[in-house]
Amino acid sequence: MAEITLEKVRERLAREEERYVKARPRSKKLFEKARHSYSAGVPMSWMQIWPGGFPIFVKEAKGAHLTDVDGNRYLDLCLGDTGALLGHAPPEVIGPLTEQLNRGITTMLPTEECIAVGEELTRRFGLPCWQILMTASDANRMALKIAREYTGRRLTLAFNAAYHGSVDETLVVDFFGNLMNMPGLMGPLVEDPSKMTRIVEFNDLEALEKALAPGDVACVIAEPVITNVGIIHPDPGFHEALRRLTREHGTLLLIDETHSICGGPAGMTGELNLDPDIFVLGKPIAGGYPAAVLGITREISAMIEKRVPWHNFFGFGGTLSGNPAAVAAIKATLENLLTEDSFAHMVPLAKKMEEGIRAIIKRHDLPWYVSRIGCRVEFRFLPEPPKRGIDTFFDVDYNEVDLLTEGLSGPLELYIHVYCANRGIILSPVHNMALVSPMTTAEEVDRYVQVIEECILELLA
Ligand SMILES: Cc1ncc(COP(=O)(O)O)c(C=O)c1O
Repeated sequence: MAEITLEKVRERLAREEERYVKARPRSKKLFEKARHSYSAGVPMSWMQIWPGGFPIFVKEAKGAHLTDVDGNRYLDLCLGDTGALLGHAPPEVIGPLTEQLNRGITTMLPTEECIAVGEELTRRFGLPCWQILMTASDANRMALKIAREYTGRRLTLAFNAAYHGSVDETLVVDFFGNLMNMPGLMGPLVEDPSKMTRIVEFNDLEALEKALAPGDVACVIAEPVITNVGIIHPDPGFHEALRRLTREHGTLLLIDETHSICGGPAGMTGELNLDPDIFVLGKPIAGGYPAAVLGITREISAMIEKRVPWHNFFGFGGTLSGNPAAVAAIKATLENLLTEDSFAHMVPLAKKMEEGIRAIIKRHDLPWYVSRIGCRVEFRFLPEPPKRGIDTFFDVDYNEVDLLTEGLSGPLELYIHVYCANRGIILSPVHNMALVSPMTTAEEVDRYVQVIEECILELLA
């Protein structure tokens, strides 16, 4: 049986990169121009992480497809890393959003639509009181502040290697007993992260209990299923124990549903019947328009209501938070897109994708795994799905990069991504992650699986 060697990966990657550049002269030119007026040549510096040497410049994003400025058309399986999970520019959102944009974009005042939004969020996710912010990072930052104020405690507990946005308290890793700010973290808030954060491994209840026992943790922040390091499912009983232990130790539980909403119309909170004190959901909640929602209990809300209203400017949201356009987009998304019908289309297709990739792994005897939550499918270069965040650092591709100085994409992953882009398929730039939207078709799923097999056959040749 032929082997995938590093030499072959590097040689095929160079070939694919050459093809990538040739097919995108206009994107390349725009990137070079943008270097004069943008830091790193992109409007947000992490847009540099796309493979191929420069990002494609998008002309249009519609449904499950992108077209770039060179006229290349792509099946988009990245979908704005969940922001456009429900499809690009969905007419169901564009209609009501445009109407609201014409009636006013931002006012520092509420509109009537916020009532229906609040009531629907409660019906769906359980929490009685809501706030609307611009991004999930904003909402998580605000949630942690609220938790500190409410409990009078300082510490946040997060699960190792989980990602919750640009939130310093969660950008801390435990690397075999060394607690450190995430390597590369810009301008860390504290030099000694143990003053801010406690980290335990997901699914490690013994460690969790030990970490909560001193009674100084304000809040545990958790995704219901870890998504950003490859999917890590909770062990049976994990969430029940997490809820029991947080209550026993007077710690608030924050569920960050931002990615795991791909599990169903009420996310994994609905699927697993979770009962958090604080709830955050950003990215697709407004059909791709910038918005996030933050749910809290009545008791926590009472604390906010007692505060001097002016003081809520000091650390809460921003002037544009809760703007009428965002509210209109959330309403339209909840009513028309984040629905049972959408998931009835997306989940079976994602299962088909998962089975297709699994069959390839088996056929070619690859030491890789594939996993899925709802309409999200990922495969990684590890023989088994990790149970703990730390395990994800043993992805074989990582042997080829210095994680501290180079980042999180090894050559094998880069090769797969550029290969796919050259065949008209966009994967998320982080991991081999694919999302199925309500507009993605069965034929497109088959095409993706076929491209992955062709890509692997070239490596094995
Ligand atoms: C689970 C989770 N929470 C929060 C965020 C932050 O979202 P945003 O970057 O839109 O603020 C992310 C981003 O990837 C995420 O994966």
